[in-house]
Parts: sequence; structure tokens; C-alpha cells
Amino acid sequence: TVGNSTNIHWHGCTVEKIDRQKLLDQKGCVIWITGLSGSGKSTMACALNRILHQRGKLSYVLDGDNIRHGLNRDLSFRAEDRAENIRRVGEVAKLFADAGIICIASLISPYRRDREACRALLPPGDFIEVFMDAPLQVCEARDPKGLYKLARAGKITGFTGIDDPYETPLNSEIVLRHEEPCVSPSEMAEKVVLYLEEKGYLQ
Ligand code: PPS
Repeated sequence: TVGNSTNIHWHGCTVEKIDRQKLLDQKGCVIWITGLSGSGKSTMACALNRILHQRGKLSYVLDGDNIRHGLNRDLSFRAEDRAENIRRVGEVAKLFADAGIICIASLISPYRRDREACRALLPPGDFIEVFMDAPLQVCEARDPKGLYKLARAGKITGFTGIDDPYETPLNSEIVLRHEEPCVSPSEMAEKVVLYLEEKGYLQ
């Protein structure tokens, strides 16, 4: 029995991950970007995607906000639904990595346990957590979608950082700190590219 299914069997295939990776000249992995709303996750994800594309590497962005328009449209922002959101995206990201693709997942993913469960889905090293370390005041001052304002006014409840928790990562592979003077999204993305190079994901 697997989950709620019985009598299911795993089918292997003669074309394997290593064959796809050879074709693509790269190694599949998951770059998991976590941080508060407005911390710059999506912008950094896009910048990273562009740099990799320009270098001839195949990557794909899974963005929380976007995936909630489709696959995860049935989920709310309650803790159980956030956990299910992260679990599903983790499973999808795992498939992308198995396809040989550099999968960039960008979600608030506020709970440590949910992030660690995604890490556990992948072979050691293939889950690379990137923490967008921007203080709440900075995110709230940016407020790109006006959601903090609504949350402060009590028009949105359970908003991360205001009246819902964000559990700071303790051992992210990469921490991208908000600093004055500002580091641009592409400079941040370059740090991730450097990490991927060092670890042999870009071959
Ligand atoms: S989570 O916590 O990982 O399940 O969230 P995620 O799927 O990344 O979606 C976050 C985006 O949803 C919008 N939004 C909220 N965020 C946090 N809390 C509440 N209550 C909420 N309601 C709507 C918000 O635009 C988030 O976008 P980002 O890109 O993070 O700013």
C-alpha cells in the first residue's frame, strides 16, 4: 500500500536520469527559494532562470503564486494547506530534477518541517535551499502587491510575517541577505550560479 492506493507497482524505464543529463550537459536538481512575501523570491528566480538559459542550461521556475492558479487552486493558506502546497510542489520539482532539469521552486514555504520533507525527496545534495533573508520591515516597505497593507488593516488574516509564522531556515545552502547598498537580483542569482558551478551541476 502506498498512501491511499493499493496494488500499485513502480515501472522503471530503460532511459534513465543519467542519460537525460548527458543529453542536456547538466545535472538535474532543485533550487528551493524560501522567504517572506516581498523578499524578492520571484525576481531572483526569474533572474537565475535567465542567466542559466543564456548559458544554454535548461531550467524551469515553479512559482507558488502561479501554481496556486492551477495545480494548487484548491488550497488555502491554512497551515495544512500550505503543507500540501509545499508537498505537491516538492513532488513536481523532484520529477523535473529527474528529467535532468534545474528546477527553481519559489514559495514562501514558512514551515521548516515542510521544507525538510521536500529535501528528503531528493538525493543528497540535489536539494539546494536558498533563503531570501530580508527583514519584515523591508518586505513590508516594498509591499509590491499591497498585501501587507491589507493584512495590517485586518482585511487579510493569516498573512505570513504579520499574523502567521515564518520559521527562519537554520542550514540553508545559500543565504542571500538584503543589504544596503542594495545587491541586485542578478547579482544574487550569480551567487547561486557560482554554487551550482562549484558543485558540478552545470558540468
Ligand atoms: S506558501 O506559504 O508557501 O504556501 O505560499 P505560496 O504558495 O508561496 O504563495 C504565496 C503568495 O500568495 C499570496 N498570499 C499570501 N501569502 C502569505 N500569506 C497569506 N495569507 C497570503 N494570501 C495571499 C502572496 O502574494 C504570496 O506571494 P509572494 O510571491 O510570496 O509575495
